[in-house]
Amino acid sequence: MFEHFDINNFVIGKQSGVAQGIGVLDSLDAIREDVARRFAQSAHDRRSAFHTPVVATADADARVMVLRSFDEANWTMRFHTDARAPKVYTIARDSRVGVTVYDREANLQVRARGIGRVVLNGLLVDAAWESSTRFARRCYLGAGPGELADSPTSGLPPQFEGAEPGYDELAPARENFAVLLVEISEFDWFSLAQTGHRRAVIARESARWITP
Ligand SMILES: Cc1cc2nc3c(=O)[nH]c(=O)nc-3n(C[C@H](O)[C@H](O)[C@H](O)COP(=O)(O)O)c2cc1C
Repeated sequence: MFEHFDINNFVIGKQSGVAQGIGVLDSLDAIREDVARRFAQSAHDRRSAFHTPVVATADADARVMVLRSFDEANWTMRFHTDARAPKVYTIARDSRVGVTVYDREANLQVRARGIGRVVLNGLLVDAAWESSTRFARRCYLGAGPGELADSPTSGLPPQFEGAEPGYDELAPARENFAVLLVEISEFDWFSLAQTGHRRAVIARESARWITP
């Protein structure tokens, strides 16, 4: 078990201030706050492991996505995606979504479970689009994810390969842009420690310790 985890690299007390050990997080309330804070802050921290979680769908597929925001009041994560992506259709059929993070520095795994909803229009999507850079918007200008190709391709129109399109040129990309909201029902928190791992399940209205 945990073959990937090199116990020799783990030194108690050597963690950074952000990566708190289990000695600090010995209450379920503290874990609840810490997990929410890690997700909320990761949206602004590209180096955080929580910035690029693995997002799993009900078809046993999983992929890395950038977490754009975490609404601590509603336990809702926001991701951006292509409206034509296979996961969009999967979520429409079965909305169960899992979001998993392994933070090596913090010796921490968090598995979040929730319900996903893809939003194509409205103020939220408009705001997300407006906040995206031209470089990010360019991703939605070409062919949709998963199309067959005869040769290696970015899927982008040739004139936009390695170039940042102008705002006018990016207008057609907007209809391919979607927001994925995942409302989290519970976090499965797993803290690795040489002294003995710890695990807790933190739900919206309750929390409990469980064995690792
Ligand atoms: C570091 C990294 C970040 C990514 N971020 C996103 C993202 O924010 N949104 C997204 O839809 N795909 C993102 N991808 C691509 C997905 O992992 C995946 O390949 C793509 O969404 C294909 O769609 P599917 O999962 O529906 O088949 C990212 C990939 C990597 C490696």
